Amino acid sequence: MSLTLADEQAFAQGGNRLCFVHPEHADRCIKVRRPDFTLEDLRRKKGFPKSLLPLHYFDDNREEHEVITGLAQQHGEPVFELISRCYGFEDSDLGPGLVLELVRDADGQISQTLKAQIWGEGYTPDCQAAVEHFCQQWRSLQIPSRDLLLHNLLVQKDSEGKVRRIVVIDGLGSPNLIPFNRLPAPLRAAKVERKLANLQQRIEQTLAKKARGEQPGYHGMATAHHPQDNHKG
Ligand SMILES: Nc1ncnc2c1ncn2[C@@H]1O[C@H](COP(=O)(O)OP(=O)(O)OP(=O)(O)O)[C@@H](O)[C@H]1O
Ligand SMILES: [Mg+2]
Repeated sequence: MSLTLADEQAFAQGGNRLCFVHPEHADRCIKVRRPDFTLEDLRRKKGFPKSLLPLHYFDDNREEHEVITGLAQQHGEPVFELISRCYGFEDSDLGPGLVLELVRDADGQISQTLKAQIWGEGYTPDCQAAVEHFCQQWRSLQIPSRDLLLHNLLVQKDSEGKVRRIVVIDGLGSPNLIPFNRLPAPLRAAKVERKLANLQQRIEQTLAKKARGEQPGYHGMATAHHPQDNHKG
């Protein structure tokens, strides 16, 4: 049976997808394509020559499902400390939705992004330790990703309000034509290292931006009442 989402309020949205709490499982979310920014719109926006590629090439849900399924086969349980668990597709009145672990803090609140966390509270020692642990694990499992953007990482807090886990919820996979696993090992390691160095840089840039008194920008600062609404990945 198809899920009814059109009448529900999305708890968050990115440039491409709307995120709903799964109507039947409080610990899962379901992500559907934004009706106001379809795959056709996205393909058009990419321009020539990418506009010649088939639509499924642009489908984040399809890619995320493939990548998470592959990582689960390759690494088993340990990978789900770092990325959200994926439960496959379900039909909805807003099209097919990908069902994933909904990351919540110990108090039940939906976890916020690393961007919102460090903007709001600074780079506290607990958060720093969680990021360091995340980087170690990411390095040892060598997970292929696009840039690790601060609005695509969530901070999960324990009952004392301390950051305990960093979870990647978007941007998995490899943007290259050669599949990540076919690359020579040193190149894979170098790619992973570059993404981690880049993550540290983004954290420092965000702290510097805040110190200068600038605005954070919408992306990744949303709450359920102020959904994000731009189209940047
Ligand atoms: N599994 C999750 N648990 C809790 N919150 C989530 C989860 N997935 C997404 N979110 C929230 O929803 C926002 C948008 O989700 P997501 O990044 O998947 O959308 P997107 O449209 O693919 O993003 P982008 O603009 O980066 O393409 C996130 O920034 C985060 O705040
Ligand atoms: Mg995102």
